[in-house]
Amino acid sequence: MRVIAAGDAGAFARLAAEEVARVIEAAVADRGSASVALAGGSTPRAVHEALSAPPWAERIPWPAVEIWFGDERCVPPEDPESNYRMARETLLDRVPVDPVRVHRIEGERPDRDRAAEEYGAALPEALDLIVLGIGEDGHTASLFPGSPALEETVRKAVAIRGPKPPPWRITVTPPVLCAAREVIVLASGESKSKAVARALSDHGDPKETPARIVRDRTWIITSGFRPQATGFRSEDGISS
Ligand code: 6PG
Repeated sequence: MRVIAAGDAGAFARLAAEEVARVIEAAVADRGSASVALAGGSTPRAVHEALSAPPWAERIPWPAVEIWFGDERCVPPEDPESNYRMARETLLDRVPVDPVRVHRIEGERPDRDRAAEEYGAALPEALDLIVLGIGEDGHTASLFPGSPALEETVRKAVAIRGPKPPPWRITVTPPVLCAAREVIVLASGESKSKAVARALSDHGDPKETPARIVRDRTWIITSGFRPQATGFRSEDGISS
């Protein structure tokens, strides 16, 4: 478990951008490309904006990056609720990723299960990086507390009906999170502190707090909050 605590929202975005860039640079150096699954929701916006600007925009070898998504709402790609639209507006339209290497989850398709199956089949064996958020209920991607998707051991992506609107979503499953070479969890704001505490505490049930699936990965949080957990090491981030 590695927890990077940022002093404020600006430092949070910079620290997250630095961590994403570091992982991508290492993957491209080792394997010639980097497969990166982006997170949805609102937290990634500031991080994407940072990645689209100096120094990270020039540092990251964007043409070597394969873009994937951890989850998608079952809406058209131009819908304000679309995670793809958010990523396109805040990042993908601003950096030289190869459009052919952007793999959208086609959540708008009437046959959600088929769309999930095809997306799962296209995913690499192991993503180089998954960026995730966390909800106040401890969900991550669209793996919500008590969801049957938490028991999935074979399929890499499934369609689910969740409690957070819009209800229908396609999400990667726990095997994809576990297989990823690196995972960065973004948790900004006091509203997430209880969920982060449950996710990082020494004991707990991933069925109740799905973000515990990635407990031992890298977490970037805003300061003022220190999880009481063994192995918690805070790397105080760049001050704003
Ligand atoms: C989604 C996300 C979801 C999100 C968390 C946090 O599609 O909604 O994948 O898991 O990361 O709900 O959302 P915020 O960043 O908006 O707080």
